[in-house]
Amino acid sequence: MSEVNGNGGAVEETRVLLRHAEDPKMASLEGYESYGGYRVLKKALKEIEPEWIVGELEESGLRGRGGAGFSMGKKVSFLPHTDDAKYLCCNADESEPGAFKDRELMQRNPHQLIEGMIISSFAASIGHAFIFIRGEYDEQADILDHAVEEAYEAGYLGNNILGSGFNLELVVHRGAGAYICGEETALLDALEGKRGNPRLKPPFPAVQGLYGGPTLINNVETLSNVSHIVANGADWFKSFGTEQSPGTKVVSVSGCVKRPGNYEVELGVTLRDLIFGLAGGPLDGHEIKAFYPGGSSSPVLTPAELDLPYSFEAMAEAGSMLGSGSIIVADDSVSIPRMAKRTSKFYRHESCGKCTPCREGTSWTDKMLERVCTGEATPMDLDIISSVQDNIMGNCLCVLGDAMAMPVSSMVKKFRDEFEETIAEEAAKTWSFDGLEAVDGQEPGPGGMSQKTLRRERLAGRSIPGEGVS
Ligand SMILES: Cc1cc2nc3c(=O)[nH]c(=O)nc-3n(C[C@H](O)[C@H](O)[C@H](O)COP(=O)(O)O)c2cc1C
Ligand code: SF4
Repeated sequence: MSEVNGNGGAVEETRVLLRHAEDPKMASLEGYESYGGYRVLKKALKEIEPEWIVGELEESGLRGRGGAGFSMGKKVSFLPHTDDAKYLCCNADESEPGAFKDRELMQRNPHQLIEGMIISSFAASIGHAFIFIRGEYDEQADILDHAVEEAYEAGYLGNNILGSGFNLELVVHRGAGAYICGEETALLDALEGKRGNPRLKPPFPAVQGLYGGPTLINNVETLSNVSHIVANGADWFKSFGTEQSPGTKVVSVSGCVKRPGNYEVELGVTLRDLIFGLAGGPLDGHEIKAFYPGGSSSPVLTPAELDLPYSFEAMAEAGSMLGSGSIIVADDSVSIPRMAKRTSKFYRHESCGKCTPCREGTSWTDKMLERVCTGEATPMDLDIISSVQDNIMGNCLCVLGDAMAMPVSSMVKKFRDEFEETIAEEAAKTWSFDGLEAVDGQEPGPGGMSQKTLRRERLAGRSIPGEGVS
């Protein structure tokens, strides 16, 4: 697990969640138990007070690994201490481009997640738990189904678990493949059998969630950490990572690197260690141009930021975010305007359409970026794209709109020259007026516009830079 790289120095993975993951036995109950699995649950049910578990989770500083980075222990403590039916939903929707760490965690070690869910449910007096897994993760859903069956047979799930008097039912629910169903309230609607649309907040799920009951929603990786924290204590957990970002993190590194994959590291290692040291850096003869540090919804960073520590706080200070911990690398062979266009296309497609800034904004942005990539835009359109992003951010019902606006805005800001060059280059590949066929070599007209755009703008009576209204 140790890697040496000229650019990244000596880098070590710190495997807690992925420990023994390469052993295929880990996916079975027998294999998991042979490495000490379910021992913590047995101890917790017999000897530990639920309040102690909640306190230890809070004290550990474990932050949600699904995107927002909110304290898990705090979320548990928000659940009301009433006799109402309470629910736990594990978010296994993992649909953001660049994210694939939950898939590996569920595939290689499903019982680690199940044990974490049982202990969390015990701590919060929850009687019904669900794993909402994206429909495309068919193999992982089958593995989970089998593992849940094994856990029932062993008496870890069901009524009167291990004679403790604690009851828990756990259901694996397959989604239908919509990114928006990963948003926690859309997930609740989808679980209830409705179309997965985000709900207005407040009320927050901890107060009124699934079927109107208090609900704890956490990511696969977050819940997979629980048995380790209860077994080893909050101080042990805090011995990894940074003060504000304790623990290890499974980071998915993809894109233009030699060794894409999941790497579990202590939070706070440098981006260079991750991208160069572990993932091998860009292919020979190429340089890194930009990267998303936290999935396709995070503002892009540039090589100048490679020596930053990979932590929630450092990514926020750099104007981006750690998100779910997915780094996507673009090298010098990648066109940033086209990368922006791919990004907007995804979010436009996944927008549920419930609120106007996101529904219209993602669609407008995608169309404008299409014009950039075909040379029909003008440099002035770049200002309009930026202002559309500003009007989306902070004005949507959920953060899907922002998830497009933030990266697109950062790309236009940091790579404006490349956007202008792309417009000019594409405009130079102009079109014949009548047959709309590409005719290379025609010079772009005033304002860098293609002849096709000029014709359209003149027909519409709009002003052409340097010409006025024709
Ligand atoms: C559009 C959208 C998609 C999301 N997709 C996921 C997802 O696939 N998995 C996930 O854990 N969280 C996802 N989230 C974040 C969840 O809303 C929620 O914050 C998270 O499940 C809470 O768990 P955590 O505190 O353990 O991170 C998404 C959020 C948005 C706005
Ligand atoms: S921001 Fe987009 S995805 Fe979220 S509710 Fe509004 S339209 Fe739907």
